[in-house]
Amino acid sequence: MAKKILITRKIPVQGIKILEAQNYEIKINPDDRNMTPDEIQEHSKDCDALLTMLSDDIDAELISKTTDVKCITNYAVGYNNIDVTAATSAGIIVCNLPGVLARATAELTFALLLAAARKIIPAHKMCSSQSFKGWAPTLLLGAELCNKRLGIIGMGEIGTETARIAHHGFKMQIRYHNRGRVSKTIEDELNAKRLDFEDLIKSSDFICLHTSLNSTSRHMFTINEFRMMKPSALLVNAARGPVVCEEDLVLALQNNIISAAGLDVFEQEPKIHPGLLELENVVMAPHIGSATFETRAKMAEMAANSIVDVLNGKMPSNAVNPEAINQI
Ligand code: GLV
Ligand code: GLV
Repeated sequence: MAKKILITRKIPVQGIKILEAQNYEIKINPDDRNMTPDEIQEHSKDCDALLTMLSDDIDAELISKTTDVKCITNYAVGYNNIDVTAATSAGIIVCNLPGVLARATAELTFALLLAAARKIIPAHKMCSSQSFKGWAPTLLLGAELCNKRLGIIGMGEIGTETARIAHHGFKMQIRYHNRGRVSKTIEDELNAKRLDFEDLIKSSDFICLHTSLNSTSRHMFTINEFRMMKPSALLVNAARGPVVCEEDLVLALQNNIISAAGLDVFEQEPKIHPGLLELENVVMAPHIGSATFETRAKMAEMAANSIVDVLNGKMPSNAVNPEAINQI
């Protein structure tokens, strides 16, 4: 009997082709919206593998109701939406997509960093509302990146790629905070140094968040941390919304406790705190860090290959819980 795969949202064709070549029976959400938890549960019942989105809540209850699923691949590098402990106990291998999306996400981080530093949103509004009255010496002055200190929280693949753009392209000074130190090769390449969290946030001109969401990183930034930052500092969050207390960020931006923010993620997506909508010193994007043609295609291929591997009895290198195999 053909193996069945549920894909909860349309993904680029490159991934579908790989799955079709295996003669799998593929169920793809036909609609341009997320599936509800009930729909995912209903459709995953007789499936051998699930290809899920970061917006799908794959909790213990849903996992307990799947009987044939052997693999859940998340179409993302983050997998905080999946209860991995429950999956492991159920003998289900969970895969994420490391590596492939680091460059695209780092480039988007820089788009937000530059846009916030150079006030591109108010600048664009001035032009589009025909309020540009001519060049002026002090019109929309912003912050220069060159020679400034970039503090990176979470120096994994994405943080490192952001540091590369910052160091090689903008001559920024790189400091990072991470559980462990990165390799000496990377520290040497980027002239990067690890700092304690407090030292990093107090001394950085720009701070980029690239950490995964976990119990340590949840609300890592509240009003207390914003108060410790330089008033001229700028924060970019390209990680997960709940790393920042959004309500406190609104306060900090309203009161110039920090100077600006660039946000690709929000605490309760797709909701955005109404306070953010009224601010001039924030630039926002709807969670598009990995959204390039090239990267989304590579992600689709990697996701499909991991499913093929698991269903052929091979452990994919991007399994996050290879120990799940011991449960079967
Ligand atoms: C995007 O946020 C991802 O985790 O891939
Ligand atoms: C700016 O456009 C300049 O010429 O200085």
